[in-house]
Amino acid sequence: MTDSVTRTRQNHALIVAAGQGERSGLGLPKQYALVQGLPMVRHSAASFLNHPKIAKLWIVIREGQDEQLHNALVGLRSYEVVIGGATRQDSVRNGLSGIAAAGGAKNVLIHDAARPFLSQLVIDRLLATVEQEEAAIPVLPTIDTTINIVDGYAASTLDRNALWRVQTPQTFDYDKLVYAHAIWPAGHEATDDAQVFKAAGYQIAVVEGDEALKKYTTASDFAESSEQNMKQIRTGMGFDVHQLVTGEELWLGGLKIDHHKGLSGHSDADVLLHALTDALLGAAGAGDIGDHFPPSDPKWRGASSDKFVEFAASVIKQKGGSINNVDMTVICEAPKIKPHREAMRQNIAKMLDLSIDRVSVKATTTENLGFTGRGEGIAAQAVATISME
Ligand code: CTP
Ligand code: MG
Repeated sequence: MTDSVTRTRQNHALIVAAGQGERSGLGLPKQYALVQGLPMVRHSAASFLNHPKIAKLWIVIREGQDEQLHNALVGLRSYEVVIGGATRQDSVRNGLSGIAAAGGAKNVLIHDAARPFLSQLVIDRLLATVEQEEAAIPVLPTIDTTINIVDGYAASTLDRNALWRVQTPQTFDYDKLVYAHAIWPAGHEATDDAQVFKAAGYQIAVVEGDEALKKYTTASDFAESSEQNMKQIRTGMGFDVHQLVTGEELWLGGLKIDHHKGLSGHSDADVLLHALTDALLGAAGAGDIGDHFPPSDPKWRGASSDKFVEFAASVIKQKGGSINNVDMTVICEAPKIKPHREAMRQNIAKMLDLSIDRVSVKATTTENLGFTGRGEGIAAQAVATISME
């Protein structure tokens, strides 16, 4: 197989990033503005470069912006650069010519840099469909009631079930798209490539789009994302030990477990929930369990430890944060934790108002070594990850 034959069977991605971003009012081409901490164009470029079925990435930029692009994409695997034109359509045409000069492609996915959050799943859906079809585009239904406005006043209501929102990447048989652009009447501006392809008489299949793929156009789109930027991932850890004694109840993960010994302590001595409380407080930078519930305070005698966990969760909430996930390990020889694990996860998920897949409970022994090995006590560790400013 010659090189050019191999190449013509491949999927190439083409990102148009040669606009001025005037409507954004940012004072810089919006494709280089930061979205979730990274230049906007980097998000979709990385998505394409990470997809195993995309053979080559082309990026269309404005004259003189090579350095800006390379800075934005520093560290990413190779891509080709083409200089764009006065309109989006001109930029696409230039990109297609670049691909032609390098031997063509089988399919081409044309994407706006202004849609940063491109998931691998959307690319998968498009490529699977375009194997059987001439073209595939991502679409979303119209949710709001949609009307015509005439002379500034509401006129007729449109049938929203017949109206669909079109996104990119739009995926086409490469040769057919080149032909469609070649016969498109000069002087008419098309806002996307599907329009050009359809006008040439070809058929376009639709696949499910993605709300996350929304286009960044005005300043408010970018303001929203800078709010998200301010949220950071924080982690907290917790560790606790209680002594195992006869004549005490054994509470672990909010569950009363039948065992010949129980944990001693001021509260119900639920060592797992105490470690979790410290992890949550630690992630929020809010001290430890002893600061908030001093053992010297008789108020907490026999207290059920879910109160402590719920308090720590409320501290995070008050600070504008949210819990991403928690992970815990119980360290003991006996009792066996596994039979109780799901019930503990459910209890904790309820205390934290989280889905159960964000709550993990694990257990280990210390191979009969140390105080846990001798059955003198139970230890627990916890890690909590939260998002907070
Ligand atoms: N685009 C392009 N070449 C042009 C015009 C637009 O490559 N001459 C690209 C933009 O960079 C963007 C996509 O086409 O990724 C969609 O265009 P749009 O959202 O309109 O971006 P801009 O044209 O940059 O913004 P504006 O219209 O507000 O100036
Ligand atoms: Mg534009």
